[in-house]
Order: sequence, then C-alpha cells, then structure tokens
Amino acid sequence: MSFDLVFFGGTGDLTWRKLMPALFQAFRHNKLPAGGRLLAVARDERSDAEYRAYIREKFTGVEEAKQPSDEEFARFAELLHYRRMDLSQPDDYAGLRQWLDARGADTVVLFLATSPHLFTQICAQLGAAGINGPRVRVVLEKPLGHDLASAQEINRVVRASFAEEQALRIDHYLGKPAVQNLMALRFGNALFEPLWRRESIANIQITLAESLGVGTRGDYYDGTGALRDMIQNHALQLLTMIAMEPPSSNDADAIRDEKLKVLKSLRPFTPETVGRDVVRGQYRAGTVAGQAVPGYLDEVKVPKDSRCETFVSLRTEVQNWRWAGVPFYLRTGKRLAARESQIVINFREVPHPIFPGTSRANKLVIKLQPEDGLELHLLAAKGGGPSGNAPEMLAPVSLDLDFDKAFLSERVGAYERLLMDALAGRLNLFVRSDEQEQAWRWVEPVLDAWQRDPTGPRPYAAGSWGPPASSAMIARDGCAWAEEQ
Ligand code: BG6
Repeated sequence: MSFDLVFFGGTGDLTWRKLMPALFQAFRHNKLPAGGRLLAVARDERSDAEYRAYIREKFTGVEEAKQPSDEEFARFAELLHYRRMDLSQPDDYAGLRQWLDARGADTVVLFLATSPHLFTQICAQLGAAGINGPRVRVVLEKPLGHDLASAQEINRVVRASFAEEQALRIDHYLGKPAVQNLMALRFGNALFEPLWRRESIANIQITLAESLGVGTRGDYYDGTGALRDMIQNHALQLLTMIAMEPPSSNDADAIRDEKLKVLKSLRPFTPETVGRDVVRGQYRAGTVAGQAVPGYLDEVKVPKDSRCETFVSLRTEVQNWRWAGVPFYLRTGKRLAARESQIVINFREVPHPIFPGTSRANKLVIKLQPEDGLELHLLAAKGGGPSGNAPEMLAPVSLDLDFDKAFLSERVGAYERLLMDALAGRLNLFVRSDEQEQAWRWVEPVLDAWQRDPTGPRPYAAGSWGPPASSAMIARDGCAWAEEQ
C-alpha cells in the first residue's frame, strides 16, 4: 500500500514530541508500510534537508531506548518531506493537491496537529481544493471544541468536506495497550462477563493522576481545565469501555454504537448534584517526589487570580439494568502524589462471612500507567496456622499479569498504534462525532454550574491526592479511593 501522511502543524510540539517518535518506532519495527512519504506542512520556508535536521535535533529529547542511531535516522529521514503553506491561501492547497496527485498514493492521511482554531478553516479549504476523495482520511487531535456548540460547529464543517468514516478523532488513551487489554479481558474471555454487573460489583474507580504540573502549557491549560482536558475525553472513553454491552462484532460502528449508549445512559448533572457529586481543586505549592514545587498560580502564563481547576473528582451512575445503583467515580489531577492511571473494579463482599474479621472484597485493577498490567486481589489461606478456620490464616494476595513479561515482543505505544490504524483505515479506536458531542452534552451542566458558583476550586497541596472533599464525597457512599483502602 502506498501512502502519503501529511502533518499540518509540522513544526509544532505534538508533531515532534509525539508523532515523529511514534512514526520512527513504527519504522524501526517494520510496521510502517513501505512506499510511504511523510510530509510536514508549516508556515516558514525550509528545505527538506533543513526540516530533517530540525527533527533530528528534536529526537535528542526522546527517551534513550527510542532514539535513532545516525544510520537509522538517515534511512527514516528519506521519507520526510517539508512544504511551506499559508493555511488561509487556496493556492497553497492547490499546490498540495498537485504534489499528492503527481504520485497518486493509495491512501492519503491528513493529520491536523495545529491549533484547533484552525481545524474548520483547514477542512473547508481541503474540501474546496478537492483533497477529500475516497482515498483521503483526516485525523483530528483534541481539543475538539470547548463546549457542545463549538464541537458541533467543528463537526458541521468537517462533515461538509469529509464523510464520517473519513474523519478520525483521536483520543490517545484509546491507543494505550491497557485499553486493548480491557477489550480482550471483557470480550475475549467468558470468565468475567457473569460478574460484570451490579449484583457483583460494588463500585468502579477511574483515576488518571499526573505528578507533573502544567509546565509551559499554562496559557492553553488555563482556558481549558481538568474537566475539559481529561474527563470529557479520556476518562469518559475509559468509562464507556468498562460499562458497554458486548458489541455484536469487532467492527468500529458496532463498538461505537455501544459506547454511545453508555454515554447516553450517564446520569445527567443538575446544579444540586454538581454541588454534591463533583469536587474541583487547584494545586498549591507542595512537594512531589521529594522536590519542592510551586503552586498553580505561580506557574508561567497562568493569571494570578485564575479559577481554573487542575483537579476533578466526581461520582456518576450508568442508568441501565446492568449498572443501576453502582457508583462510577472518576478522578484526574495535576501535581498529585504519583503518576498513576488505573481502573479499579471493587467487587462486593462475600454475602455471608465465615472467616470473622477477615472480610475483604476482591478487586480487579487494570493499570494503564506507569506500566500496564492487571492485578486481581483475592484472599488466600496463608498456611502455617494451627487449625482450619483461624482468621489470621487468610491473607490478601494478588494475581499479577505483567504484559511485558507475558509478551516479549516490543509494546506498541498509543500514537504508534493510532497512526498505523489511521493508515490502515481501522476506525475502532477513533471517536465518532456523536460520541464526542454526547460527552460534551454530559459535562456542560458542570461547566455551567461552576461558572455561576462564586467559590471556585478548592486548594490542595501538590503531592497529595487532591482536596479532602474528594475523599469525603466518596466516603458518603461508604467507599474509599484505592490508596485509602
Ligand atoms: C493530554 C492532556 O490529552 O493528556 C495533558 O492534554 C495530559 O494535559 C496528557 O498531560 C496525559 O497523557 P498521558 O498519556 O501522559 O497520560
């Protein structure tokens, strides 16, 4: 299959930080189909050679195991091309079309790695220039809008030029290996399905915790906040994967139809439930991994009076027969105690304990980060005690599945997987426009309630697990976050 992969925003952060390293990994592992060209598009004048040197230099910041040798980079660089474009100029799109048509590759993937305010302009111009035929796909990177109306407007313009199956919305969490394993666990095994419901599961916790602060992205982040940055997309996508009904096939739309049903079943927020079930926080100075770090208001490009939330935890329910009454707790934040993303399925306690004093519910932990893996927490007989039923003979143990050990082959990173899927036209891991709009519809009442609420986010110390109100919110149900159990 011949292909052209075009990056708008070819000199931007996303391209050199994530996309080029991911493509290089695919190239190194012979996953990148032969016969491809990678074209970076940006505003300034550069030759191919200058662009290759620019990317070579950027690779020095990549983790060591993923850095190319000079010889490897020289081979990779042969695929790299550069083109200057003014994205407002129809002539420049006509030039791009000529460049693409001269070769007529089987597949053309256009990756919009620009600032999102350019998405509608670029899609409209691509359509007007005729760069939207059946062999073309466009990939849109988040944030796609900042509320329902702006997301709908982007989708309207994208749809005017591209069919739904040509528009691929990236949520890079869906590319993480743990998410593949979640699908495999649920739909490749019969074991868990009978337990995957309200009768057996007490509550579900999704935590996406970061130990880093906002770094140099203060200007972007301050206009966004944790709810839009992480909950509306990544956390909700994980929730849909956990809660969806088994799809009738592994086809993209069969899966996305089921995910959409989950989003539509989420209990809608009202001003009262926002006050009760949602906690927002903002970090103050503190200590993370032994290092003193500044508070959010002292970060660069952050206004001193910012009310932007850097932490959110919330409680919701999926209103259907499978999940009625089971709380789903979602939590994300910057400058938390650890970089740790995981989904914890807390099972119910045994109905009639016969080992007094040692009751402990089972839990399944699906770990996304820092490493991916699965842990099943059980109680087992410790042995060595004097007689059969002594309570001290039971001890917690966990069955640990370490995927790195189980599969010796190189693990595929999220962007690498998603880029290869985009080239192959596999849409399973891309978000459909109706899913994305429904997610906005669900978070919007929270945004509205916050805007009207004069109190603003609650402070929390950097290096903690967020404001104490987050633990209090879940304690009301008699539950505790995983690190407090
Ligand atoms: C991005 C957010 O979507 O995800 C960032 O915009 C966040 O703020 C990042 O840091 C986290 O991704 P990961 O893969 O490092 O968990």
